[in-house]
Amino acid sequence: MSNYHIKNLEEYWQVYRKSINEPEIFWSEIAEEHFLWRKKWDKVLEWDFDKPSIKWYQGAELNITENCIDRHLFNRADKTAILFEPNNPQEKAQHITYKQLSERVNKMANVLKSQGVNKGDRVCIYLPMIPELAISVLACARIGAIHSVVFAGFSADALATRIKDSGSKMIITSDGAYRGNKTIELKKIVDEAIVDIDIVNKVLVVNRTKTKINMKNGRDIWLAPLLIKSSDICEATIMKAEDPLFILYTSGSTGKPKGMVHTTAGYMVYSAYTFKNIFQYQEKDVYWCTADIGWITGHSYIIYGPLANGATTVMFEGIPSYPDYGRFWEIVEKHKITQFYTAPTAIRALAKEKLDYVNRYDLSSLKILGTVGEPINEEAWHWYNDNIGKGKSPIVDTWWQTETGGIMISPIPFSTPTIPTYATLPLPGIQPVLVGNDGEELQGNNKEGKLCMKFPWPGMARTIWDNHKRFKDTYFSEVKNMYFTGDGALRNAVGYYRITGRTDDVIIVSGHNLGTAPIEDAINEHPAVVESAIVGFPHSIKGNALCGYITLKQYGESRDHDNLKAEINQMITERIGGIAKLDQIQFTVGLPKNRSGKIMRRILRKITLGDIENLGDTSTLLNPEVVELIIEGRAVKV
Ligand code: WT7
Repeated sequence: MSNYHIKNLEEYWQVYRKSINEPEIFWSEIAEEHFLWRKKWDKVLEWDFDKPSIKWYQGAELNITENCIDRHLFNRADKTAILFEPNNPQEKAQHITYKQLSERVNKMANVLKSQGVNKGDRVCIYLPMIPELAISVLACARIGAIHSVVFAGFSADALATRIKDSGSKMIITSDGAYRGNKTIELKKIVDEAIVDIDIVNKVLVVNRTKTKINMKNGRDIWLAPLLIKSSDICEATIMKAEDPLFILYTSGSTGKPKGMVHTTAGYMVYSAYTFKNIFQYQEKDVYWCTADIGWITGHSYIIYGPLANGATTVMFEGIPSYPDYGRFWEIVEKHKITQFYTAPTAIRALAKEKLDYVNRYDLSSLKILGTVGEPINEEAWHWYNDNIGKGKSPIVDTWWQTETGGIMISPIPFSTPTIPTYATLPLPGIQPVLVGNDGEELQGNNKEGKLCMKFPWPGMARTIWDNHKRFKDTYFSEVKNMYFTGDGALRNAVGYYRITGRTDDVIIVSGHNLGTAPIEDAINEHPAVVESAIVGFPHSIKGNALCGYITLKQYGESRDHDNLKAEINQMITERIGGIAKLDQIQFTVGLPKNRSGKIMRRILRKITLGDIENLGDTSTLLNPEVVELIIEGRAVKV
C-alpha cells in the first residue's frame, strides 16, 4: 500500500484511518518520500486553533520550484510541462517543456532580482492566462518573493485595494488581454489603479495584444528586452517551511477582501498529494483545468499540484463560447485531454447549447471529469456524465476553498462510488465535523449542520495578510477549537457529505465567491442611494444570481429608474468587476430591519423567491410596512 497514491476503496479506508490515527507519521512519510528538501523538518506539526497558530514541517528548508521544475530535469526535461492553448484557435499552441520552463522561470527570476525584488517582497501579478502568468508566479517562488495574483477580470478599484493591502511594490501585467473576440486594455486598468499608490515603483509589461499603451518613464518597463538580456540560471532561494509563498484575496462578509496567506512546505505537500489522488495522474496524461490562475483553483491545480507531480498541465487563454460553444471539446480532442476539471456554471452554460457542439469531437481520451466552485445540480451532473464522459469517466465533485489550499472533500476516482450532488468523503488527513446551532458536534450519520474541521491539514491558510485578528474572528471563533468553513453540509446514511450552501453573507455566482458587503458599499456610493442589501436567488446558468434592494433618497420622484439601474451596475463594474453585476434590482423606500437596526436579509431572500407566504418569524421586524411595499413592487428584472 502506498500512502501517496490511492487505487481502490479499501486502500482509501486504510490510508484514511492511518491519517487520522497517526497524522504526523502519515504526513511526514508523504513529505519524505515524494519531495525534494534542502533540509528535513524537526517537527511535523504544531498547532493551536485558539491563537490560531498552525505550523507544518518546522525546521525544514526547501524551494517549491525545485520540486515543481528542477527535479524533473533528470527524467522529464523534454516532456511538456505547460501546454498553452491561445484564445484564437488559429494561433499555434505552445508546448513548453520542463527544460524550457526552467529556463524561462530562471530568466524571469533574474529580471525580478535586477528590478529590486527581494525575498519577502510582494509582487502583484495582473495578467491574462498566458504562459508569462505561470512563469511569473514560479519566478517569485524561485526567489522567495510573495506573489499576489489578481484575477484580470477585476476592476481598477479592486486591483488598487489588493495592491495597497499587500504592499506590492511591483506589478506584472500585459498591454492587453484577449477574451473571445474582445481585447481588454489591462495596462490601462493598472494605470488607473495606481495613480494614487506611491509604493508601486515598477510595472513590468508583457507584450500580448500590441494594444497602444502609455509607458511611464522610470516606472513602466517592457519585459521582453529584459528577459533576452538575463541569464537562464538562477539559484533557488532556500525557504523555511512556514515562509509565505503567496497571498490570494477572497471576498468576505465585510467590505475588504481577505488576503489569505499560504506558506511553502505544507501547501506544496497538500496541493501535490491531492492532485495525484483526485486526478490519478499517470505519466502520459494531459491534464486540463479550465480555471483562471487568478483563483486558488488555478494556483493549486494548474500550477503547483500538477507541476510537483511532473504532469503536463494545459493553460487556456480563451472562453468556452469562442469561436463557438464547441471550443472546450475541440481542445479536448486536439490535445487528447485525459482529465478535465471545470466549473458547474460552465457545464450549465454549455448544456444549454446544441449537442452537436459536443458530438462533433472525439472525446474518447477523457478518463476523469471534475467540478469545483459550487454545488453541481443533478441535471448538469447527468449532462456532463452522459455527453462528455459517455458514462465511463467518473466525476469528481471537489469541495474546497481558497482558505483550504487544496481539495478537502471529494470522491477518489475508481475508488469512491459517486452520487450526483455529493462531494462524498474527506480526503486523507481531513477531519470534517458538523456542528449544530448550539455549537455542539453532531455525531453519527443523517445529520445537517455547519461544516467545520477539527484538525489541521498541511494546505490550510495560516493567516490573513496584515490582519491576524480577522483570521481568528472569521474562521476560529464561530465554533471553539475548530476551523469554520462558512458552509453548511449534510452527512447522509453512509457518511457522504453534501454541501448545502453558505451560511454567511457570501454568495457563489458562477462559481465566484462574492461577499455582499463590498457590492453594497459600491452601490451606496451612488448619490441617489441611501443604502442597499444584496441577496442571492437561483439562476439556471450562474447557480446563483444577485438581487439588490436599494433604498433611494427620493423614491418615486421623476428619476429615470432604468437609467439609474444601469448606473448602479456600472458603478459595481468599476468598483469590483463585471462578475458582481446585479440581475435584478428593486428600488424601495426602506429595508426590513430588526430592532437593533440589522437588515433582515432572510426576509428579502424569501421575497425574492416569491415565497411570501413563509416569511418566517417577523416579530422582531421594526418596519413591517416596508415589507408590504417591497412585496407589492416585487423585484423587476434589470
Ligand atoms: C466556496 C469557496 C475551491 C476553489 C473555488 C472556489 C463553494 C466550492 C464546492 C463544491 C459545493 C462548493 C463553497 C466554498 N464550493 N466547491 N464542490 N460543492 N460548494 O473557492 O472562491 O474560496 O469559494 O465555494 O461554498 O465555501 P472560493
